[in-house]
Amino acid sequence: MRVLVTGAAGQLGADLCRLLEVRMADPDSAVHAYAGLGRVELDIADPARVRAVIRDQARPAKVQGGLVVINAAAWTDVDAAEADESAAYAINAAGPAHLAAACAEVDAILVQVSTDYVFAGTANKPYETDDETGPAGAYGRTKLAGEEAVRALLPTSSYVVRTAWVYGQTGRNFVKTISRLARERGAVSVVDDQAGSPTWSADLAAGLLDLAAAQPPPGVYHCTNAGETTWFDFARVIMAEVGLDPQVVSPTTTAAFPRPAARPAYSVLSARSWLDVGLPPLRSWREALRAAFDAAGADLRG
Ligand SMILES: NC(=O)c1ccc[n+]([C@@H]2O[C@H](COP(=O)([O-])OP(=O)(O)OC[C@H]3O[C@@H](n4cnc5c(N)ncnc54)[C@H](OP(=O)(O)O)[C@@H]3O)[C@@H](O)[C@H]2O)c1
Repeated sequence: MRVLVTGAAGQLGADLCRLLEVRMADPDSAVHAYAGLGRVELDIADPARVRAVIRDQARPAKVQGGLVVINAAAWTDVDAAEADESAAYAINAAGPAHLAAACAEVDAILVQVSTDYVFAGTANKPYETDDETGPAGAYGRTKLAGEEAVRALLPTSSYVVRTAWVYGQTGRNFVKTISRLARERGAVSVVDDQAGSPTWSADLAAGLLDLAAAQPPPGVYHCTNAGETTWFDFARVIMAEVGLDPQVVSPTTTAAFPRPAARPAYSVLSARSWLDVGLPPLRSWREALRAAFDAAGADLRG
């Protein structure tokens, strides 16, 4: 199969491209070619450009075993989305719709990456894929609209894969920010009343390629590293990885740390649907963090 990655300069997009490079060198891999396009090469909010690029990628001379498009492009600034929901909508909802329409024309498969923010975050047990959605803010609303557009336009050849708390070598993320702040300030407060599953973008990338190769029934899946924690506990574990005293991190509450966008109090996504179709489970978030520091510690230290 040929894989097209959109948003290739982002955290997930960059790790997908790194991994695709490795998989292409493996004669047993299902992947024989890939293209990773950043925003400059492919703006997913531009329907004419999306159609032209996907038509080109799907040309018979280029494709053996079909084209799979993995959409890693998104507006991910949840606070800024509150101030400009229509701009976020153009990327998170209209963009996936353009991709789905173009995929339908050439019989390509679309993997749409989505988020825990489609849920209200008020549960007390892991969210199943068919649990009721109810985003609390603009970012979640736009991502949910993207999910719905993809499923409506490409019902038999699309996957919506929700993930959460993503960090990686490329781009900005909690691991880098907390490492830098702790070093610069010597003390940092982190909320201890929001729970979720930290997810290394390289593990997520591997999961998405496993899904693309296995092609289970179309629908919604959840993919995060296993286990759960709070941002406070996560920060303390990060301190240990970067060689700082975990005690420099103190707990605080969401109420004491107001932000423009509401944060889900509970973001844990159940892996049940993923495991039920035989896809390999992702390792625990602690093991993944250790592996991430082994692989990319210099970048993750911020
Ligand atoms: N980060 C998280 O914690 C998290 C949690 C749950 C789900 N997710 C989902 O996981 C996916 C990957 O997120 P990520 O963490 O890799 O995000 P990211 O690092 O912010 O990467 C997103 C990429 O999309 C690009 N982009 C924005 N608008 C675009 C457009 N119109 N056309 C093409 N590219 C565009 C961005 O480019 P610019 O930088 O130039 O804008 C950026 O390179 C997204 O679907 C996100 O919603 C992320």
